[in-house]
Amino acid sequence: MALIPVKLAKQEYNVLVGHNLLENIRDHAARFLNKKSAYVVADENARSHHGESLEIGMAKAGVEINWFEVAAGESSKSWETLQKLTEWMLHEGVERGDYVFALGGGVIGDLTGFACAILKRGCHFIQLPTTLLAQVDSSVGGKTAINTAAGKNLIGAFHQPSFVLADLNTLYTLPDREMRSGYAEVIKYGLLGDESFFNWLNNNVGHITSLDHKLLEQAIATSVRTKARIVSEDEYELTGRRALLNLGHTFGHALEAETGFSQTLLHGEAVALGMVLAARYSERLGLIDKGHSEKVTMVIDKFGLPSAISSIGLSCGGEKLVEHMLHDKKMKEGNLPFILLNKIGEAKVIHDVDLSDVTKFLNGELSS
Ligand code: NAD
Ligand code: GLY
Repeated sequence: MALIPVKLAKQEYNVLVGHNLLENIRDHAARFLNKKSAYVVADENARSHHGESLEIGMAKAGVEINWFEVAAGESSKSWETLQKLTEWMLHEGVERGDYVFALGGGVIGDLTGFACAILKRGCHFIQLPTTLLAQVDSSVGGKTAINTAAGKNLIGAFHQPSFVLADLNTLYTLPDREMRSGYAEVIKYGLLGDESFFNWLNNNVGHITSLDHKLLEQAIATSVRTKARIVSEDEYELTGRRALLNLGHTFGHALEAETGFSQTLLHGEAVALGMVLAARYSERLGLIDKGHSEKVTMVIDKFGLPSAISSIGLSCGGEKLVEHMLHDKKMKEGNLPFILLNKIGEAKVIHDVDLSDVTKFLNGELSS
């Protein structure tokens, strides 16, 4: 079990990573279970697989669950579901001092976090992430949002959770593809700031992907530690530190947009390909050598993630992908920051990338 503090200017909270945590939630989160019933938002899959463990855990504290269930999938990060959820919270009498629990992946965490940010100008919430992506990324750091017709995550708020409890048992029911998608974010932490972690992942792929308890916990805890450190250095993404977490996301976002943010390419798969492209583009700019970009490709490959843009069957050209990039919310004064590599284990933000060169580069990648 690992307890990782997230230290921010105005608050501090912990992320607990370990096994059997939901069934023993009373032991870890007693101070948040101070009422006879607990408000829990979950998607149908998270509830059906892990709702009972949470009920057992809460019952030990004499707490009964008041569920709000939403449909699984990205479409629940919508105005409509937000309205239903906030109206339910008001109807149930949730107060500013209360804690609302989010049991599920990034969709449930983002939706519930945003609802809690705006309910009565802010109530508390607790993340109970049940996907690998949510455990290592979305549940930590306080970014909350819903999607609109204009794009993903464009309506949201920074609203930090009071506690994150990442029960690794929940990962054993996760579909393989969702699990692999989460590994992309784990690899990202090695690549952007910790070469020895990247090498450790490379050497232990087999054990980690076969869900060895100890190594899986180590991979997740190390990822959370890196995220916690970066968030504490730049909570509101103002200095460029937190922007490093977007490694692979600029190229990845363009690929997701081109495939309609659909099951064709999951977010983590797009990030994996985006990291390969960021490494290869870093090589093109002379920031890293060929051996390093090939190593990035190899590790992504070993985790069963897509590592060649030509393998996903896009029919568009580089121009179209660059056009998608220009709609990225990271655009600032007409400039699109790229997160590139100085070396494995060190990323940096580059502001003056020549987009016509990126177009040529992508055309080359698409046809190779
Ligand atoms: P998700 O929440 O849609 O979960 C993926 C699928 O797994 C869903 O079908 C879900 O029902 C199912 N599922 C969840 N837990 C399960 C379990 N334990 N067993 C079986 N099935 C389970 O997707 P995700 O990948 O967790 O999160 C993606 C979302 O996260 C996106 O909306 C993205 O924008 C957001 N995100 C947010 C941040 C942030 O900092 N806030 C960071 C990265 C991603
Ligand atoms: N997932 C990127 C961030 O939290 O900043």
